[in-house]
Amino acid sequence: MEHLYEKALESAEYIKTHTKKRPKIAVVLGSGLGKLTADFTDTEELSYKDIPNFPVSTVAGHKGALLAGKLGDTEVYAMEGRFHFYEGYSMKEVCYPFYVFKLLDVEKVVLTNACGGINREFAPGTLMLITDFINMMGTNPLIGPNDERFGPRFPDMTEPYSLELRNLAKQTADELGIAYKEGVYMGFMGPCYETAAEIRAFAGMGADAVGMSTVPETMVCNYMGMKVLAVSCITNMATGIQTVKHSHARVLEIANQAGDTLCRWLGAVIQRME
Ligand code: 6GU
Repeated sequence: MEHLYEKALESAEYIKTHTKKRPKIAVVLGSGLGKLTADFTDTEELSYKDIPNFPVSTVAGHKGALLAGKLGDTEVYAMEGRFHFYEGYSMKEVCYPFYVFKLLDVEKVVLTNACGGINREFAPGTLMLITDFINMMGTNPLIGPNDERFGPRFPDMTEPYSLELRNLAKQTADELGIAYKEGVYMGFMGPCYETAAEIRAFAGMGADAVGMSTVPETMVCNYMGMKVLAVSCITNMATGIQTVKHSHARVLEIANQAGDTLCRWLGAVIQRME
């Protein structure tokens, strides 16, 4: 994307002039996981289509709005609907909102997604705190000329998911009595679900879960020095592990169920973030 910095600046200026809040935290609500915003107070809402230079989302079950609201005393941005590579967006478009968040002085990003379980200790409905990722999306959003105003040419990925935020999430889950697992998320290009052979290969590579998002956003946020926390909702087991065929309707159904617990968890975590 040409003139990414200037475009993102224009988006950020629009958001600043059309909202009163100045959140330092942004949360992305994945498929079927949108309920967190029901707990927001004093919500301000901007449609993606009204924000200059913002991509517009297309998939059923994904909305297209940026919210600025409060959880308790904590101001937070929420993306209702994200952009997926499989929809045909470029990687830069997929990650565009995060460049804008950086210019809005957001420091922490919480990512959620619905995904398939590879680890056989998981079951549909399991919440998985992501500890690390494997990029199997076939490309990387940071390919191309580097703009040093955003970050370095060769970004470090030693701690893609902030240890401090993961510890906060674990402590909060324990206090609230919320069950969770931890694991490695593999980002897959989609839109086809994986084959059984691919899932066997990915299990051998160390993946605990597989989905079609989150990895590009994680890379870009780390590149810009933003801390990332990410939680997956396992909506089904991956191909060859579950015996039935995949269904997007089923994914949304399970995400909606487990989403209540996920929202209770992340709502508390966000309010405890510095
Ligand atoms: Cl099994 N795979 C991928 N890539 N994404 C998913 C999924 C599986 N289940 C829900 N989302």
